[in-house]
Amino acid sequence: MSSRKGIVLAGGSGTRLYPITVGLSKQLLPLYDKPMIYYPISILMLSGIREIAIITTPQDRQQFEKALGDGSQWGIEFTWIEQPSPDGLAQAYILAEDFLAGAPSVMVLGDNVFFGHGLPVLLAEAASQTTGATVFGYRVADPQRYGIVSFDECGRVSSIVEKPPVPLSDYAVTGLYFMDGTAPAKARRVVPSARGELEITSLLEQYLEEGTLTVQKMGRGYAWFDTGTHSSLLDAGNFVRTLQMRQGLQVGSPDEIAFDQGWIDQNALVSRVNLFGKNDYGRYLAGLLK
Ligand code: DAU
Repeated sequence: MSSRKGIVLAGGSGTRLYPITVGLSKQLLPLYDKPMIYYPISILMLSGIREIAIITTPQDRQQFEKALGDGSQWGIEFTWIEQPSPDGLAQAYILAEDFLAGAPSVMVLGDNVFFGHGLPVLLAEAASQTTGATVFGYRVADPQRYGIVSFDECGRVSSIVEKPPVPLSDYAVTGLYFMDGTAPAKARRVVPSARGELEITSLLEQYLEEGTLTVQKMGRGYAWFDTGTHSSLLDAGNFVRTLQMRQGLQVGSPDEIAFDQGWIDQNALVSRVNLFGKNDYGRYLAGLLK
């Protein structure tokens, strides 16, 4: 079996964050001390993924390439894919079909932030599934805003619906999707929804019908933010700041993860420290060298 590859979906028009995102890509906005996209990239790296396609709009691609380079600073490799218009999350699998070349994948939305004790174990479990799809259910107070998964009395998944006006449960499907190599073929079978998008929930429904959809609940010990509104953007930034200030540990640092995984050596980390030296992030990385 070919090894699992990663996708970060970082396109879209960001209109819900206007006026901030009129001239700036949403996923490059700061979440406290790092660009937003560092957090989802960290999730892929924690899942052991080293080949990552980043999907952006054609207009924003250059900015992303400037912010992220080719990935070698973290011992990983970025492939750039353009999405001309935001036609839906499932379209990512069609755009990335050649990149995936039949491999299983994990896709993360460029505006999703995850944190929790035991997250690496949860990710490793999902990554070890060779067939089917695994997604994560997270209890939310505003289920109309998300893809919602409901369960029958035996706890089996009974439906998965995008932004239901009358939600059947409070469990949102987070923006983190582990899928086998059949995802692009399934994405091609998705028909556009009433809002004209290839919905990720329609792709997941195909796994559900096949009986190969696993929904793992992320319990109350986890934090999941999507940064889709002005308030949730600030909430996520404040959360990161609070944790980092209290613990003196970084949340979502690809530099730290790369070093921990042994994907970069001391010299590579030193050049990052030299780049950031004068601020807290640089000092934190310098501390890892000791
Ligand atoms: O955050 C989790 C939710 O993400 C899921 O519960 C939903 O099932 C899923 O549809 C999605 O809902 P959103 O309403 O949050 O999707 P949104 O249109 O905001 O897109 C999420 C991110 O993906 C956003 O940062 C922009 C990017 N995007 C979106 C679309 C539709 C793209 O890069 N390309 C696209 O075509």
